[in-house]
Amino acid sequence: MTLPLDLTGKTALVTGGASGIGLACAQRLAAAGARVVLADRNAALAQERAAELDGEALVLDVGDEAAVAAAAAQWHARHGAVDILVNSAGVLQRTLPPGQLTLKEWDFVAHIDLRGTYLCCAAFGQEMAHQHKGAIVNIASVAGMRSGPLHSYGPAKAGVISLTENLAGEWGRSGVRINCVSPGFTQTPALEKGFSTATLHEDALVQSAALGRLVRADEIANAVVFLASDWASAITGVNLVVDAGYLVATPWHAYGGLRSP
Ligand code: NAI
Repeated sequence: MTLPLDLTGKTALVTGGASGIGLACAQRLAAAGARVVLADRNAALAQERAAELDGEALVLDVGDEAAVAAAAAQWHARHGAVDILVNSAGVLQRTLPPGQLTLKEWDFVAHIDLRGTYLCCAAFGQEMAHQHKGAIVNIASVAGMRSGPLHSYGPAKAGVISLTENLAGEWGRSGVRINCVSPGFTQTPALEKGFSTATLHEDALVQSAALGRLVRADEIANAVVFLASDWASAITGVNLVVDAGYLVATPWHAYGGLRSP
């Protein structure tokens, strides 16, 4: 299914664009006519994927303040503000209890997932605000909305939701919209790694969703592209959950589980 969205003439920068949800977003944005820039720390993959989309690769570690500032300054000097920014760069976390989860790992996850999202929003969003245009979509997570054994990832993603609301207020009068999408368990290389290391169990996740399945990365991309487009012209500061009904199904466990048809 393709939404009749026309993003011809727009530039879209997607962090984490070399894989998974970010790549699916870049593919959908390119299909809608946007010129895509894949900003990722994985240089080889970013270049390969960007070439497939007739786009550009930008080698970037989103947690590196100086690198993000330099990349944004160079981009703005050459092209002006990007029209669309999607912040999908992120890392998942091992499900360790406090005591086993080292502060080094806690910091690493928060550094990329929250700080990195903020750095990119700040660096690219300010120029959008100066030029009175633009839409930002951050990738948060259902893990930022409910309890779980993710003591850095969960708070980092809750922070992304809060950050999105704050910046929507900050830049609304400057014509910049900023929203987030909270995916449920989505089929990506990161999730596959979770299955292969037995951190996550596919059957349990499928059973936990009202729709009885995982989410596909292109289904996240559909929501992202909608929020980034003029179809969402009056929407800012929202957190759109795309989770195949994971959040609504979970309380049913207290009543014996979802009913079979
Ligand atoms: P993925 O591992 O397939 O892709 C992540 C991409 O981000 C990779 O290309 C990686 O190189 C890049 N990246 C990682 N750290 C980076 C950094 N410091 N600077 C620049 N690029 C960096 O992962 P996936 O599953 O596509 O995740 C994308 C986003 O979606 C993440 O923010 C993740 O937290 C979020 N998410 C994923 C869910 C899932 O079930 N897959 C569920 C909820 C949220």
